[in-house]
Amino acid sequence: MLRWGISALSHDAALAVVDDDRLVFAGHSERYSRVKNDPLLHPDLLAEATTFGPPEQIVWYERPYVKKLRHLQAGQWSDAFSPRDLPRAFLRSLDLPFTLPEITYVDHHHSHAAAGIATSGFDEMAVIVADAIGEFRTFTIGYRDRDGHFETLHRRAYPDSLGLLYSAFTRRCGFRPNEDEYIVMGMAAYGEPRYTAQIHEELLEITTPTFRLRGNVHRGIGNWLPDASPEDLAASIQAVTEATMLAAARWAHDATGSENLVLSGGIALNCVANSVIASDSGFQKVWIFPNPGDAGSSVGCIAAVTGSPLRWNGPYSGTDIPGDYPVEELARELVGSGMVGVASGRAEFGPRALGNRSLLADPRTAEMKDKVNRIKGREPFRPFAPVVRVERAHELFDLPTAASPYMQFTARCLHPGVVPAVVHRDGTSRVQTVAPDQHPGLHALLGEWEDRTGCPVLLNTSLNGRGEPLLNTADDVQRFSSRTSLPVY
Ligand SMILES: [Fe+2]
Repeated sequence: MLRWGISALSHDAALAVVDDDRLVFAGHSERYSRVKNDPLLHPDLLAEATTFGPPEQIVWYERPYVKKLRHLQAGQWSDAFSPRDLPRAFLRSLDLPFTLPEITYVDHHHSHAAAGIATSGFDEMAVIVADAIGEFRTFTIGYRDRDGHFETLHRRAYPDSLGLLYSAFTRRCGFRPNEDEYIVMGMAAYGEPRYTAQIHEELLEITTPTFRLRGNVHRGIGNWLPDASPEDLAASIQAVTEATMLAAARWAHDATGSENLVLSGGIALNCVANSVIASDSGFQKVWIFPNPGDAGSSVGCIAAVTGSPLRWNGPYSGTDIPGDYPVEELARELVGSGMVGVASGRAEFGPRALGNRSLLADPRTAEMKDKVNRIKGREPFRPFAPVVRVERAHELFDLPTAASPYMQFTARCLHPGVVPAVVHRDGTSRVQTVAPDQHPGLHALLGEWEDRTGCPVLLNTSLNGRGEPLLNTADDVQRFSSRTSLPVY
């Protein structure tokens, strides 16, 4: 049975196609429309999904009418009474080349949880879902047993939301809420967490196993502590987030007795908090779907309906640029000029470039950061990530997990002087490890690079310009390459 899973009409719309239990396609709308975090489904995305055949069922990642009840509770009257964000009316307006099949709706947190459960490979597991807001639920801790039964052990609901509080701080620091939280996380390393006590006194009360908010922060925290620097505010909310998530994970470990944790929801994009959990919560294994936010729920909602493990090939499930991975060309260019773009194979589904739409560079000088920033035009304080073969990773990075194939964990760099361009202000790196079966081409390139230079690491960042989504098609690449003069293979 061919199913479409859709996450749309909020932010960062995405569509997944699953054939029985096999993920055959998943893409972000923004990559097609070139509009960052596009909430609508672009016609080219729909056309690509339709090449797999008309869907027999469409699964929607949340329950729209329950969400409208929350809009009513929150006094968002225009959202509550608008018919425009109702999925059936929206899908009818898209002029799809097939008769609209049955639409099935899944709870927002169920979609998040199922994306992780179905791809984890675990037979039983604790599950934590933490995000900003879906319908009402904002935090779920549960246990999924070997028979597939899910028991909810703890929940928090709107307006108690750690994600909304983080977004409120994102706005307070001068960035866009629901979009720029990763910038705040990067900025945190430049500040001191001097306001954590004040956050607890005025905004977030610690309870077991999670928290309550002392007020509704959905519309922000205004100019809270007007004299505080954005860096110190970022460090403070980051510290509170890490401590809150760690306490929840420790409680989940004790309550479930499981050694396996699935972490999902937008807060699972916080790789510093993920690392604290992986190191200190007591779980042996932590699994995070490479797209744990709402876009990834396009996959999760289908998994919630089927209730079975998903067959998938990792996050490389988007638009294809066919051909062999250009190992020789990339190695030659990296040795010659120190920087190269690669656009080959299927685009990554998720927020990180993991080798198929990447800008790769020589990490051995700190100046390389400035060179890459000139191409990408982004904030100078933001860190760049290293990519390294998994068999060499632990010699260079103090990783909290055996592998980090999707850049979901940070680790202290053990030799920062060797690869200064990929070490953040606090001495850590957001590592991507590569195994031969995970990405043979990238693994071979790293081997070739080390053979020629003695360096086992490359800098890996997304192939895009300032404020742009990741490049998607060969035409996008052509335009980018001619504008920036960066060679792309
Ligand atoms: Fe969510």
